[in-house]
Amino acid sequence: VRVAYAGIFPATAPLPELASVVREWEKEFADPTAAVFLAEDDEDGRAAVGTVAVRADPEDLHPNGRATGQLRRLHVLPRLWGRGLGAALYAAAETTLRDAGYEAGSLWVLEGNGRARSFYERRGWTLVPGRTLTWPNGGPVEVRYRLVIS
Ligand SMILES: CC(C)(COP(=O)(O)OP(=O)(O)OC[C@H]1O[C@@H](n2cnc3c(N)ncnc32)[C@H](O)[C@@H]1OP(=O)(O)O)[C@@H](O)C(=O)NCCC(=O)NCCS
Repeated sequence: VRVAYAGIFPATAPLPELASVVREWEKEFADPTAAVFLAEDDEDGRAAVGTVAVRADPEDLHPNGRATGQLRRLHVLPRLWGRGLGAALYAAAETTLRDAGYEAGSLWVLEGNGRARSFYERRGWTLVPGRTLTWPNGGPVEVRYRLVIS
């Protein structure tokens, strides 16, 4: 987190703490609509080196609960960036959204995270104007992206 978001989180804003990140992951695994993908390093005792998750978007639930699927937690260890892991994890997540029958995808990304935003824009995601989330305690702003799934 410290490497990936250096220069994006304001210096005065606290970064998420490990305990709260663990709690978030526990919620992810308990969500019956969620699918989680893990990239493992075969040469390092199958250590986790990348993640991505999808779930039904709780902000856009239709009666059948399936209209929009949210992409979350796309993270690769910084020392392995640029080797195709992010693209492979993303592809698994997008295939899952399509196979689950969602009509659209959604995600939140930090406004200042140009690397991730251009990654998503190259894959067809578009900015939803005017939809933002602001982290507490002077934290950064997140913007919302949407993918039409045909
Ligand atoms: C975004 C992220 C997941 C990409 O992972 P990655 O393993 O580096 O991705 P890849 O190696 O598959 O490369 C993805 C793309 O970035 C490009 N790229 C690779 N290294 C690059 C670099 N140093 N500078 C610019 N672009 C680069 C690749 O050419 C590729 O381009 P494509 O989109 O045309 O396929 C990774 O940078 C990351 O974990 N960032 C921090 C967390 C984050 O921002 N997550 C998104 C939160 S919503």
